[in-house]
Amino acid sequence: MLWLFRTFVRNGISLLGTAIATAMAVLFVVLLLLEQAGLLTNPYLGLLLFVAVPAAFLIGLLFVPLGLWVDARRRRRGDLRAEWLVVDFSVPRQRTVAAGVLALTAANLVLVSVAAFGGAHYMETTEFCGQVCHTTMEPQYVAHQNAPHSRVACVECHVGSGVEAAIEAKLAGTRQLWHVVTGAVPAPVPSMVRNMRPAMETCGQCHWPQKAHGDLVRVSREFGDDEANTETATTMVMKVGGPTTPLREGAGIHWHASEDIRVEYAASDDTRQEIPYVRVTGPEGQVREYLAPDVERDAYAEVPLRRMDCIDCHNRPAHTFSSTPERAVDRALAEGRIPANLPFARREAVAAVSGEYASRDEALAAIARSLGDFYRGQGSRPDLVERAIAGTQAVWAGNVFPAMRVTWGTYPNHIGHLASPGCFRCHDDSHTAADGGVISGDCGLCHDLGM
Ligand code: HEC
Ligand code: HEC
Ligand code: HEC
Ligand code: HEC
Ligand code: HEC
Repeated sequence: MLWLFRTFVRNGISLLGTAIATAMAVLFVVLLLLEQAGLLTNPYLGLLLFVAVPAAFLIGLLFVPLGLWVDARRRRRGDLRAEWLVVDFSVPRQRTVAAGVLALTAANLVLVSVAAFGGAHYMETTEFCGQVCHTTMEPQYVAHQNAPHSRVACVECHVGSGVEAAIEAKLAGTRQLWHVVTGAVPAPVPSMVRNMRPAMETCGQCHWPQKAHGDLVRVSREFGDDEANTETATTMVMKVGGPTTPLREGAGIHWHASEDIRVEYAASDDTRQEIPYVRVTGPEGQVREYLAPDVERDAYAEVPLRRMDCIDCHNRPAHTFSSTPERAVDRALAEGRIPANLPFARREAVAAVSGEYASRDEALAAIARSLGDFYRGQGSRPDLVERAIAGTQAVWAGNVFPAMRVTWGTYPNHIGHLASPGCFRCHDDSHTAADGGVISGDCGLCHDLGM
């Protein structure tokens, strides 16, 4: 030990490295204990604990051999401040030194492994995804909390199962973290369905693709701009069916996701709003191609196609944004977050959330002011007005994120066809096959309306 100590003292670099590594090791253990005891809960703690501290620790460790190397070089150049060490295990002192070095290395390895394991785990939490990349992921993080999959962690859908998927995701994640640090993240963040795992590896972990859903009843509630916020309800029977359940003529909406058929398509760009070419391959390998008007078949002979799966329709299962202010306010009224018994609540809320605001603070203040001004002196119940203000602010804050340039309709939802083309990207009665058949836009194909 004495020899090691002397070398270190003589050599500043190694000494500094040891100091850093020791300090970081102590800091790591203390922080880890505090975190385990629940005394520290800040989401940035994970970044510090599992990324910054271990990185500094490793740098400290690297300084030690670096210092020894510099020292050795210096000595080789004739600057003989010490003789070369002759390793001889018959010398008891050297045995002690070797054992000491070995023990320290083992302890370091344990520490680094704990940190690496904790770091990998920590980076898979929703807190890491949503809060550390605060501004970047804020829209998706906020929307995720109010959606049916709020208990499903980001990585369950964004990282598939298996080692390969994990490594791929870590590499992509490192690149993205770099983009965040350098401010190179595009706003809004594009929907990169290209980069998503096949849905069977993500959705398929929880949802049974063969499930026969049969007919599902959907009730959509809308409200009027009149004083009474008059409600109309539309009931729709959605013919979801299942890949293997014959339902009337065909299998229903989930037919596209059948295992024994392939529906493939080419889109004009990554937003996938325009689909000029569709190819269906049946169970016996029979192929049927559909082309949008004025599209040449040969143009798609070599283009890579995407096989349709769950997320070509359910593209917003977790972070769902409302397509329009009207839809968002109607939902809040239907759920009672904005009181439907407050006169003109619908009209006023829609007007307030439709405004252009530069920041969240400005928007929340402006919404409170506009509703407050409208109801002042009208004799409305103050508690209802207060609820309407809070509900309207929440509608805005759940859908509009100026920092990421996300607003109404930025991210289209493919389930439906009212606010964006959705199903009608293909089902428009004009994608035509060689035999003259078209992808049908017949209303009754997908749902029975108005019961
Ligand atoms: C239930 C599955 C699921 C979960 C859980 C999920 N996502 Fe997504 N995410 C998707 C799908 C599918 C897309 C592709 C959307 C498209 O193609 O329109 C996507 C796209 C995105 C995008 C690209 C921009 C956009 O909105 O289209 C970001 C950013 C994103 N997700 C972040 C997150 C974050 C952060 C979380 C956790 C807070 C999360 N996701 C949780 C399925 C999921
Ligand atoms: C970790 C498990 C898990 C994963 C992964 C998952 N889901 Fe779900 N999903 C659920 C659960 C649980 C529910 C029921 C939630 C509820 O009703 O509260 C659900 C509900 C749904 C619903 C009904 C939503 C509604 O409006 O009630 C759809 C559609 C859906 N999932 C599609 C998907 C798609 C598409 C994916 C892949 C991108 C996916 N899920 C991935 C667990 C999961
Ligand atoms: C990429 C193109 C594409 C998109 C997008 C698409 N479909 Fe289809 N769909 C097809 C094709 C192709 C067929 C088969 C047409 C044929 O050969 O008769 C089909 C058939 C159907 C059928 C009849 C299945 C049966 O029982 O035989 C239903 C129902 C249907 N689609 C519903 C929907 C709904 C709902 C959406 C939106 C959520 C949607 N489709 C989106 C391409 C598409
Ligand atoms: C062609 C588009 C399309 C494809 C592909 C598709 N779905 Fe659906 N799915 C729908 C539509 C439309 C509904 C009806 C839901 C509605 O109206 O909100 C539905 C309903 C569901 C529901 C039931 C929701 C409920 O409230 O009970 C689940 C779960 C679901 N889909 C999961 C999946 C999974 C998992 C896959 C992939 C294996 C998949 N879907 C593929 C269009 C599609
Ligand atoms: C290819 C399948 C398909 C075809 C064809 C189709 N729809 Fe739809 N429609 C849908 C889906 C999917 C939804 C969304 C259901 C949901 O939001 O849960 C929808 C939603 C709607 C809604 C909105 C209900 C609401 O308030 O949320 C109306 C209205 C509607 N369709 C009318 C029509 C009419 C009229 C036609 C014929 C011109 C038609 N649809 C053809 C699949 C289809």
